[in-house]
Amino acid sequence: MSKVTVVGAGNVGATCANVLVTCGIADEVVLLDIKEGVSEGKAMDIMQTASILGLNTRLTGVTNDYEATAGSDVVVITSGIPRKPGMTREELIGVNAGIVKSVTEQLLKYSPDAIIVCISNPMDTMTYLIHKTSGLPKHRIIGMGGALDSARFKYFLSNALGANPTEVEGIVIGGHGDTTMIPLTRYAAYRGVPASQYLSQETLSEVAASTMVGGATLTKLLGTSAWYAPGAAGAQMVKAILHNEKKLISCSALLDGEYGEKDLCIGVPAIIGKNGIEKIVEFELNDAEKELFRKSAEAVHKTNEALAGCC
Ligand code: 2OP
Repeated sequence: MSKVTVVGAGNVGATCANVLVTCGIADEVVLLDIKEGVSEGKAMDIMQTASILGLNTRLTGVTNDYEATAGSDVVVITSGIPRKPGMTREELIGVNAGIVKSVTEQLLKYSPDAIIVCISNPMDTMTYLIHKTSGLPKHRIIGMGGALDSARFKYFLSNALGANPTEVEGIVIGGHGDTTMIPLTRYAAYRGVPASQYLSQETLSEVAASTMVGGATLTKLLGTSAWYAPGAAGAQMVKAILHNEKKLISCSALLDGEYGEKDLCIGVPAIIGKNGIEKIVEFELNDAEKELFRKSAEAVHKTNEALAGCC
C-alpha cells in the first residue's frame, strides 16, 4: 500500500493529487489544506470521476488534520502564496518560508520516514529551508523545479522541431528562476540526434529564452501561477519514487561539491528512485555552461540569505 500526502489544495496541489489519482500512481492520497472545505470539495470532485475513468486510488480531503496524513511514503508540499503577474518567485520568500517550515514539521511528526517533494516557491530556497530545518538525510528532500522546466523546454523544442514531445530530449539545470535556469541546448536531442542538426543556433536560443520565462508567460496570461504542468511534474517525481523508477530527472538537490558548489539546493540531473535522490549525475559542462551554473548558484545563494532568522 502506498500513501502520498499533498499539502495545499490550491491549483498546483489539486492538480498534483488529480494526476496521482488519475494515473493510479499511489494507492492512497490525502489532500490537506488549511482552508475549511476546499480540500474536501476538490477531493470529492476528483473522486466523482472514478466510475467514469475507472480509478482505483482513494483520495481524501482534510482540513489541517495532519493525523490523517500519518504513514505517508511521500509528501508533496505546495503550500504558500503563488506569484502574481510581474512578481518574481523570489519575492514570495518572506511569507512562504514560515508556512513551509511549519508544514514540514507537522508532516514529519506523523510520517517520519517520508520523502519530501517541494514545489513551493522560491522552490530552490524552500527546498534548502527544509534541509536546514528538518535535519533529514539529503536524499530525502527533492525540489521539483527542474522537472517542470525540462518539460517546458521539451514543449518548446518539440514545437520548433515539429516533433512529438515524448521523442524529444531536453534538460534544464540551475535555479528555478527566470534568469537562473539553464536549458542545456547542447544536449537537446530528437531521437538521439542532436537538435542542433535540425535547428539553427538562433532557434535554439529562442527555445531556451521561451523556456526561461515559461512560468512568467503563463502568470501573465492567467493572472496567477501555472498549475497543470507544475502539478504533473510533482506527480512525476512521486511516481519515480514510489515505483522505484531510477529515472534521470532534473531536480533541486542539496549539493556537496557536485558541479563545484556546496551548501545550496539547485537543479541538477539526478536518479530518482525509492530512496529519493539516489545519485546526482554530473554532466560534462563546457566553460560557458560552467559559468552560467556558477552565476545561477550565486543568485540562489543570495536568495537563501533572506532565510536568515528562519533556520
Ligand atoms: C512555475 O514555474 C509554479 O514556479 C512554478 O509555473
